Amino acid sequence: MPANNALPTRHYFASFPEQTFMSDMEALFTKKRSGHALKHIFTGAALNMWEQFTLAEDTHYYPFTCEAGLIAKCAPYFNAVANKLKERGPLTVVELGTGSQHAAQLKTVPFVEAVQPDFYYGVDYSLESAFHAATTVRERIKGVKIGMRNKNFITDDMDIPHAGPRIFIEFGSTLGNAEGFEDAPLPKDVVIQALANCRKHMSEGDYLILGVDQNQDRRSLEAAYGHRLISDFSNAMLRRVHDELPTEGFKPHHFRHVKRWQPQNHLFINGFEAVQDGEFSFGKGEPIRYKKGELFNYCNSYKFPQYFLDHCYAQTGFRLETKHSDKKGRISLQCLVAA
Ligand SMILES: C[S@@+](CC[C@H](N)C(=O)[O-])C[C@H]1O[C@@H](n2cnc3c(N)ncnc32)[C@H](O)[C@@H]1O
Repeated sequence: MPANNALPTRHYFASFPEQTFMSDMEALFTKKRSGHALKHIFTGAALNMWEQFTLAEDTHYYPFTCEAGLIAKCAPYFNAVANKLKERGPLTVVELGTGSQHAAQLKTVPFVEAVQPDFYYGVDYSLESAFHAATTVRERIKGVKIGMRNKNFITDDMDIPHAGPRIFIEFGSTLGNAEGFEDAPLPKDVVIQALANCRKHMSEGDYLILGVDQNQDRRSLEAAYGHRLISDFSNAMLRRVHDELPTEGFKPHHFRHVKRWQPQNHLFINGFEAVQDGEFSFGKGEPIRYKKGELFNYCNSYKFPQYFLDHCYAQTGFRLETKHSDKKGRISLQCLVAA
């Protein structure tokens, strides 16, 4: 094990090969896909920027602090759920989309402390994130066996051993980052696919605790995503396109970071907007032409209304046992039982 939990460099490349960045950026600028490229924030150097963002004191990023507070407050409920499940055998906690080390300290560890499972698995398609979460749990909680899975929790078999009861947790409104075009309705198919894949790994009576941001208030949303580090992510992504991909004529300064709240489909967007007309190509490919004002949306943050979630639960074999929300009704922990 390397000192200080530092991950050998090769792991940074294991999560998302350069090829994935290339195909994601090509799909973004050719508008074949939309809202699909947030994953590049959770790997390599960008992950450190995200970590700094969650640690910064001058942010108004309520989803992080609110959810951490809610998890702490719900500890007695989680403990009661765990005690009930343990009657069926050794308990496994599976975390979907672990995120950074700071998230592990503020959310995962308090949750795991409350339920005292026998096993903890961190599942993230960023291997660095799964590694940081699982090792943080191992360091902070005695006696819990850990594992990590470098998997896509929407599409992949997560390969979780142990037949006993399970609690799945997904914090950070990760489902809200579902891919989809900005002018499309809510991404029902993706959410149903994600829930159905989770349900496949569960037995009747197991739990899924889903953290969701349901805020519909423009001002607080704009404040949450208004920090300079969010624009820095965008600029870093544009620089990577220029520096690392075989582009010809790509000019990062032709684009600026934009954020936009769309109440009609409950979607907050972070993307690039062209500030002037131009063109570039990927290698010897077809020229990609853009017009001033054109949007390239790399990140969706859906703020799902309850009726939509209830519909998806009904389609995938979940029953909403209870919902814990913060005082302002923005962040909720949806406690679901596999029916
Ligand atoms: C919004 S962050 C949440 C992180 C953390 N749980 C928190 O509460 O702050 C989403 C995390 O989920 C991971 N992720 C997103 N979609 C995923 C997928 N389909 N499969 C696996 N990991 C995914 C990302 O790499 C990232 O670490």
